[in-house]
This record gives sequence, structure tokens and C-alpha cells, in this order.
Amino acid sequence: MSDTATVRQAITTVGAADPSKRDFLKLLTGSAVVIGVGAIVWPFIDSMSPAKDVLALSSIEVDLAPVQEGQAITVVWRGKPVFVRNRTADEIKTAEGVALNQLIDPQSDADRVKAGKEKWLVVIGICTHLGCVPLGNKVSDPRGDFGGWFCPCHGSQYDTSGRVRHGPAPSNLGLPPYAFAGDTKIKIG
Ligand code: FES
Repeated sequence: MSDTATVRQAITTVGAADPSKRDFLKLLTGSAVVIGVGAIVWPFIDSMSPAKDVLALSSIEVDLAPVQEGQAITVVWRGKPVFVRNRTADEIKTAEGVALNQLIDPQSDADRVKAGKEKWLVVIGICTHLGCVPLGNKVSDPRGDFGGWFCPCHGSQYDTSGRVRHGPAPSNLGLPPYAFAGDTKIKIG
């Protein structure tokens, strides 16, 4: 038998005499494809998932007990500063008494706080002009003409409801999602 005939014979013999080997080869090939696709898709899926440390901070609990009336604190939620302010009775009254037509971004105070918990104002501490962090949480900070926060970058001023009252900022300080988890505790996020 010639060499070519011998090779042809060998191929025919493997293919015809042992179908289980063929099936095994097909199975292997199929698995390789699945593994290959999995290896390509996983990095995409994985890159779309939030990192574990981000997930861990997707909600935070804030103990309000140490925040005295008239004080404000800054907490960090999802990498953003959030101002939590314990408003005085005067600050609440002033915020509630502002006519909506005096506001750059009309919104009532009642729409910015939780009913029955009006003393607590919770806002995202990022100026809506170009993103600076306004001053007003420390006792020594300027609070502007409206008693809330003052942005030193371009002079925007916010009132005791976190509503913009002066300057280039186009809208009020944002409101994060939050809920009371007790009388002196809130959960943000
Ligand atoms: S960033 Fe606050 S006024 Fe411009």
C-alpha cells in the first residue's frame, strides 16, 4: 500500500471505527467554545458590576443624636458630601414662610423635609452651579444672607431649606433618598 493510501486508511479507521472518540472530540470543541465565550463576556459583566466597597456604601446610617439644634454635619454617601442639619425653630419658620415666587427654583420647604421631622434637613452638599462644596456647616463658616450655605466659588447662596436664593447656581441643593430608621437615626440610600 502506498504512503498516501496508508494515511487515508488510518483517517478512515479512526473516524469509522470509534464514533465515541468523535463525540468526545465534538464535546471538547463545544466546551472550548463555551469557555472561550465565557472568558470574553465575564470581564464585560464584571466591569459593569459596582465594586464591593461601593456596594457597601450604597446606603449608610447616620446617628442624629449628637447633632445639636442649630448644628450641621457632613457625612459621605456614595462619595458625595451630604449635609444633615438640625434646624432651629426660627430657621424652620423662615424656610416655611418664603413665597414660592421669590425662589429661583420654586419648591416648598414641606417638599424638602419629612412630615413631622421638619427640624431635620438632609441635602447633597454639592453646589448646583459647578460642583463646589458650599460652606455653612461649621459655626465659623459664612452662611450667606439667607442663613443656609454659601458657595465660595462664585457666590451662590442657599437658604435654610437648601434652596438657591442668589448667584449663578440654577437649582436647589439636591435631596438624597433617605428614611428615618428611628427617632434619631436616618438611613441614606
Ligand atoms: S460652584 Fe458654587 S457658585 Fe459656582
